[in-house]
Amino acid sequence: MTSTNDIRRGFLDYFASQGHTIVPSAPLVPQNDPTLMFVNAGMVPFKNVFTGLESRPYVTATSSQKSVRAGGKHNDLDNVGYTARHHTFFEMLGNFSFGDYFKEQAIHHAWTLLTDVWGIAADKLTATVYHTDDEAYALWTKYLPAERIIRIATKDNFWAMGDSGPCGPCSEIFYDHGAHIPGGPPGSPDEDGDRFVEIWNLVFMQYEQDANEIVGELPKKSIDTGMGLERIAAVLQGVHDNYDTDTFKALIAASTSLTGTDADGPHKASHRVIADHLRSSCFLIADGVLPASEGRGYVLRRIMRRAMRHAHLLGAKEPLMYRLVPALVAEMGAAYPELVRAQPLIEATLRQEETQFRKTLDKGLKLLDEATAGMADGATLAGETAFRLYDTFGFPYDLTEDALRERGLTVDRAGFDAAMAEQKRAARAAWKGSGAKASDDVWFDIAEETGSTEFIGYAADAGEGEVVALVRDGARVERANAGDTVAIIVNQTPFYGESGGQVGDTGTISTDAGLRAHVGETSKQLGRIFVHHATIESGGVTVGDAVRLQIDVARRARIRANHSATHLLHEALRQRLGTHVAQKGSLVAPERLRFDVSHPVSMSALELADAEAAVNAQIRGNGSVTTRLMTPDEAIAEGAMALFGEKYGDEVRVVSMGTEDGGKTYSVELCGGTHVNALGDIGLFKVVGEGAVSSGVRRVEALTGEAARAYLIGRDERLREAATALKTTPDEVPARVAALLEDRRRLERELADAKKALALGGGSGGVASGPEQVGGVAFIGQVLDGFEAKGLRGAVDDAKQRLTGSGVAVMVAVNDGRASIAVGVTDDLVGRISAVDLLRRAVTVLGGQGGGGRPDMAQGGGPDGTKATEALDAIRSALAEQPQTA
Ligand code: ALA
Repeated sequence: MTSTNDIRRGFLDYFASQGHTIVPSAPLVPQNDPTLMFVNAGMVPFKNVFTGLESRPYVTATSSQKSVRAGGKHNDLDNVGYTARHHTFFEMLGNFSFGDYFKEQAIHHAWTLLTDVWGIAADKLTATVYHTDDEAYALWTKYLPAERIIRIATKDNFWAMGDSGPCGPCSEIFYDHGAHIPGGPPGSPDEDGDRFVEIWNLVFMQYEQDANEIVGELPKKSIDTGMGLERIAAVLQGVHDNYDTDTFKALIAASTSLTGTDADGPHKASHRVIADHLRSSCFLIADGVLPASEGRGYVLRRIMRRAMRHAHLLGAKEPLMYRLVPALVAEMGAAYPELVRAQPLIEATLRQEETQFRKTLDKGLKLLDEATAGMADGATLAGETAFRLYDTFGFPYDLTEDALRERGLTVDRAGFDAAMAEQKRAARAAWKGSGAKASDDVWFDIAEETGSTEFIGYAADAGEGEVVALVRDGARVERANAGDTVAIIVNQTPFYGESGGQVGDTGTISTDAGLRAHVGETSKQLGRIFVHHATIESGGVTVGDAVRLQIDVARRARIRANHSATHLLHEALRQRLGTHVAQKGSLVAPERLRFDVSHPVSMSALELADAEAAVNAQIRGNGSVTTRLMTPDEAIAEGAMALFGEKYGDEVRVVSMGTEDGGKTYSVELCGGTHVNALGDIGLFKVVGEGAVSSGVRRVEALTGEAARAYLIGRDERLREAATALKTTPDEVPARVAALLEDRRRLERELADAKKALALGGGSGGVASGPEQVGGVAFIGQVLDGFEAKGLRGAVDDAKQRLTGSGVAVMVAVNDGRASIAVGVTDDLVGRISAVDLLRRAVTVLGGQGGGGRPDMAQGGGPDGTKATEALDAIRSALAEQPQTA
């Protein structure tokens, strides 16, 4: 038997041998088409090559493209498990010619591979052509008898990517599984039977259409073909049912052995659902989709939960899906290495989702049983009940439908939608009740009409989006033109909307039709609508346009580095200062980061330097940064530090980074922001400031990468300048400055001494050399201009020396217009003359009050320094009035 892996390889090798370039599968999330939920055909990644917008270094290519048809226009979800050939995930084998070969060669290749290489009997094959395509008909007559070339007039033989884009007539090749299976050839009345199965579609790409109308020819006639690998595997392995091929048998063997149930008994559909959904879930997670409540993430959740209900039907008591992942990796990991790389994330995500869903699954199923008890075959479940199952028990709508299908019951979809609309209305009312602005109305309208914006910027810097609304001056508009400032809302965007402290992205929005808009800011409204605040530089934009969104990559790289560094700093501070350290606010900008934490006192230079060193050690360790989704409780149990000011839903993103001794993860935080892939990307971390924000809250400011380097270089430059000015080397600057300070202190001392000497020697209002006689008492009185008041006492003591044992000495220092005065009386006179009394007389003259001391030494002063001489005179008078003794 030829294995599915060999068939895939054989297909690619055949076309490679015919000069085709083997192109690896593109990710399931479309990189170049905003209108598609998932890549659903092999040609999708080549769309722009067909239309001539993009050129590649090859003109023929071949691929095995991962495809998902669930959600959006092509939705096979409902049928999976109950038919032989429906899948949510499949691989499309294709060969492509971009203006190289056309119909003749395409048919030749298909025929050669099928009959010569793979040995399929020619009489098993039938081809269809578009009814007007005589050329293709004529080409087929070389290989097939006329009765097995069938003209088809319907859209089945005119293939289009979508309402717009490349299209053309096609030719489908059918395999006849044999007369034992009911059904007729294509175009016959019983064509819907299962006997003739389409295995390969050759599209003769020729036209371009817009809104379902052909608007022109493609620049070059091209070829796009698609062959479902699962179908051709069934043919080549001699089975009729895709689920009987090797890959599916291996997956079903895993689920039968883990649940102890039979593959073909009553549980047949459940095993098939699980095998199919396992493939789509794992490949979607590997391509960056994680379960969510809206958008692509919700399609993934619907698929996962549908499978999980079937696991429950198989009697699985514990989460089952994650335990099947090794079987899938064994089957498909060699062809798709991303599956191997993402295996830990896939297993963790599946396990988490199933653990969480199992908590409500039983109760929900019980409610469903009660609600449907006694319902007759063909009856309809109330939409209200389906909504309750959705809202309270986490049952996606299609899960309820699937559960009822086995019992022949249906669901009232309109009733479900009405209940959903009513819930949205109530949520809006509640939001308004909380004091929201009237201007929020416009965002509510947009949110209700278009759903949340899907953020694709964790993985991508650029992408395409469809404009779903334009808002100018608070009101919705249909179009905006050059010169306008307008808010542009698209269905998906790589632009981060400001939140969680991280600033929004800037960049450009453009179209091939000439739009060029500069996005100066991106914000988030209602927590889920991303708003690009743009100025239109040229061209115009209309609601419905497909636009290209490109963020400023260098700026985002700096933001990522600052955000990851903030997490590392948080942990470094917590480890050094204590677990009371909690985030109180944060700003993650391209230029710098600012981080506020609860801590009662200022951080010491040592603590900061130590934290800084720890952060830099993590950066040099170059550990990886990983993101997982979990419930808030689980995240906390993992040791995640919650972010300030964020509201958490059922699920949180948990960002882990770095390792410390013993292999423990260094930092674990709940965070919706964008981060570096590896810590080495941060480059360098430097704290540049620490201060108080409010009582108990400290703010640390820091730089990373080039900003940190520029900061340090700037510091170095200034140190060099200082060294030059000091005529020394940078290393000697501290010693040189210390020596200069010491010099300065010495000079100040010397200056003060010199001033004192000068003042005492040259003061006015008295005789410096000797005492005068007043009232029979020796008296020295001097006014000292600019003399420091604190030196007065010393000056009085000096003067007392000159009184040779008996007398009164008074010194008045005048500084800045104020006078300070000290009065000294020698001990022999103390009984008779009081220094305090003399002082009071003088202070009164100086316009002052008080002053005091002891009878032998008193000090005071007054505001009127111009009266200094008069004050001395007042003391002379007082002495003259003294009663004389013999
Ligand atoms: N693009 C073609 C298809 O999907 C081959 O059928």
